[in-house]
Amino acid sequence: MATGPIAVLFRRLIDNQTELFIFNEKSAGYKMAKRDTNILIVKHKDFGWIGTNAITAEITSRPWNVPEAEQSSLFPPEGEWVSKNGHKSYVYEVVHLNALNEAVDAKYETPPVDIFYDNLAAYYHLIFEDFDESVTQQGRQLSNIIHTTWPSLRNQSLAVKVLDVSCGIGTQSIALAALPNYIVSASDISHQAIEQLNNRAAKLKLSIPTSTCDMRVADKCHSPASFDIVMSADNSVPHLKSDADILLALKAMVACIKPGGGVLLTIRDYDKITRGLNQFKPYGVRIENGRRFILYQIWDFERDVNRVTFHIIEEVLETGMTNVLVSRSVYYAISIKKMLQLMYKAGLMGVKVLEDNEGFYQPVLVGTKPE
Ligand SMILES: C[S@@+](CC[C@H](N)C(=O)[O-])C[C@H]1O[C@@H](n2cnc3c(N)ncnc32)[C@H](O)[C@@H]1O
Repeated sequence: MATGPIAVLFRRLIDNQTELFIFNEKSAGYKMAKRDTNILIVKHKDFGWIGTNAITAEITSRPWNVPEAEQSSLFPPEGEWVSKNGHKSYVYEVVHLNALNEAVDAKYETPPVDIFYDNLAAYYHLIFEDFDESVTQQGRQLSNIIHTTWPSLRNQSLAVKVLDVSCGIGTQSIALAALPNYIVSASDISHQAIEQLNNRAAKLKLSIPTSTCDMRVADKCHSPASFDIVMSADNSVPHLKSDADILLALKAMVACIKPGGGVLLTIRDYDKITRGLNQFKPYGVRIENGRRFILYQIWDFERDVNRVTFHIIEEVLETGMTNVLVSRSVYYAISIKKMLQLMYKAGLMGVKVLEDNEGFYQPVLVGTKPE
């Protein structure tokens, strides 16, 4: 579909309830994004764009103000629509959505990504069976990767300057800052995650300057051309909702590195991940400070949108008192191939996914800023 919006959202004015319709090639219309419904928005030969029951062919809704002659042949009009079901009628506000992530966010009222990570910040270390051990391991792996990919950095007498633009609670920032010969700066969109990083760094007596910053404007938060390596690990970049946003972030990262320096991303390989709904992703059970934590995610895919619901159950062992945290976010299930293309477009050379990623748990993508 080259020209129409990817989805349309109906908001019922009386109670703000929403229904999402996603473009469906087979019907040349929009299909309600709900299982077991047969409602389509299609262009009718006599009535123009209508909502209809695909089984009974009954008309269920119509635009109120846009006459058929003024309607596009490609997509339903925005504005007021009216539905009729027996003797009941409702008025809707209809809007076009141009990115599926935008559509899914609107439908499921996903909180902004900083809120998702703010909510999780105090628990995030529990994702790892042993956070400190993971930090040590990731530091070793990343440092080997950096030295192998950019050998001149191994030989330079100065410390390697690294900027982590999605540091979270500091898994990789702390890992590298703890090694000799690395100077690390870190930023993230979640200020609560940064707070966690700051506390950990203080305990470990590590100096890591931090700031709250959206990676799409990393070049406005950090000095341009001043880092050897800019990194973003653990599938952070796919939190951005579109190719355009990812390109913006990659260009900002490139602006932060010195000529000859590199960008290092680690992301999931979505081509290898099963699509579908209701996928259970357990992290495990952890015991900490007299509490038991059970952590798991539920993944739902709608085309290339991966909705993630994070559940954390916290039990006070002595009293059995239980607290449940549920937080939602969305990833753009971008392929590695597409990400490499965007890295190239952002001005990086030698973009590739590393064949030998030193055992790092995710594919590692690298590219170098031309001298
Ligand atoms: C999966 S976590 C990984 C954090 C850290 N790298 C780690 O491995 O522990 C993703 C991180 O990306 C951050 N993030 C998402 N979108 C961002 C954006 N637009 N700018 C900066 N950080 C962002 C989140 O706040 C979160 O801390």
